[in-house]
Amino acid sequence: MDFNEKHIKVLGIESSCDETSVAVVENGRIILSNVIDTQIPIHEKYGGVVPEIASRNHIEAISRVTKKALEDANITFQDIDVIAPTYGPGLVGALLVGVSYAKALSYTLNKPLIGTNHIQGHIAANYITYPELQPPFLCVMMSGGNTQIVHVKDYTQFEVLGKTRDDAIGEAFDKVARVVGLGYPGGPKVDKIASEGKADIVLPKAHFDGDTLDFSFSGIKTAVVNLHHKNPQINVANLCASFQSTVTQILMENVEKAIQKTNIKTIALAGGVSANSYIRKAFMGLEEKQIKVYMPDLKLCTDNAAMIASAGYYNYIAGNESELSLNAIPNLSL
Ligand code: KG4
Repeated sequence: MDFNEKHIKVLGIESSCDETSVAVVENGRIILSNVIDTQIPIHEKYGGVVPEIASRNHIEAISRVTKKALEDANITFQDIDVIAPTYGPGLVGALLVGVSYAKALSYTLNKPLIGTNHIQGHIAANYITYPELQPPFLCVMMSGGNTQIVHVKDYTQFEVLGKTRDDAIGEAFDKVARVVGLGYPGGPKVDKIASEGKADIVLPKAHFDGDTLDFSFSGIKTAVVNLHHKNPQINVANLCASFQSTVTQILMENVEKAIQKTNIKTIALAGGVSANSYIRKAFMGLEEKQIKVYMPDLKLCTDNAAMIASAGYYNYIAGNESELSLNAIPNLSL
């Protein structure tokens, strides 16, 4: 069967953290709608996501957001071919809202249910931005909960080559921002203030023996926190610029090792931290070394359902249909 000729419309549903998002994507590549209802203003006053509050807000938002996604795509429930919710990783209560809603839709509309991995979704954001992109490639996945270098062997086949042994890179950005008083979510705020500072403070980079591609970000995070506590007058712009520059070096050193190890010369970025302007510039620098670099559109870097619908499409054509017993898996890996 030639799936491309079929115009398969996937309803993607994302509720793993603090965004309720529903999208309609055709054949994995064309966005017909992508509605994102963010809870950032609600969690901002707590300095981070409060899981209970996130779940309650997903429940309130999910029907409204779905209705809007269908309206924006100018279709009805009957026109949907596949229903693809994120089922992990993420906050269990938050995930359950999207999974339960998707199961109810799948049952009542009699449409296939395709439970989709959130990390696979972040990788798939690249397929929407670049219709010509096809596996294999290396993907540097950088988000609030994950940091890993993935060999994307095929649309649904992955090998994790290296990952963080402690904090995710986004977690480190958020913690640094909170400690220096920039608020939540910290990544975009560090990005902005760092552009006004000088990266002139030496910060530690964890080193592992052997040829591992693993990362560690807790040491540098703690160093920034300690520096700020010992010297509250420290220039925040310089501190943020130094932090951002050092974590970028940590990333790039492992990425270059991964390129050498695999001899794969196509790199894609994924996850919220791939919106960082300094990191994007550093990756663009790889093009001088004949490495082809792909980066999702900024609005597709952070959590959204279009990327889930894209990954869901590839799971569907691979025949990975879920049972109605599908459950949320908070620590799901690739
Ligand atoms: O991918 P995402 O939306 O959610 C997860 O799946 O985790 O990533 C959120 C993370 C947060 O830690 C946020 O601070 C970070 O992405 N982030 C950034 C930037 N924009 C978002 N970090 C650095 N620079 C940015 N411009």
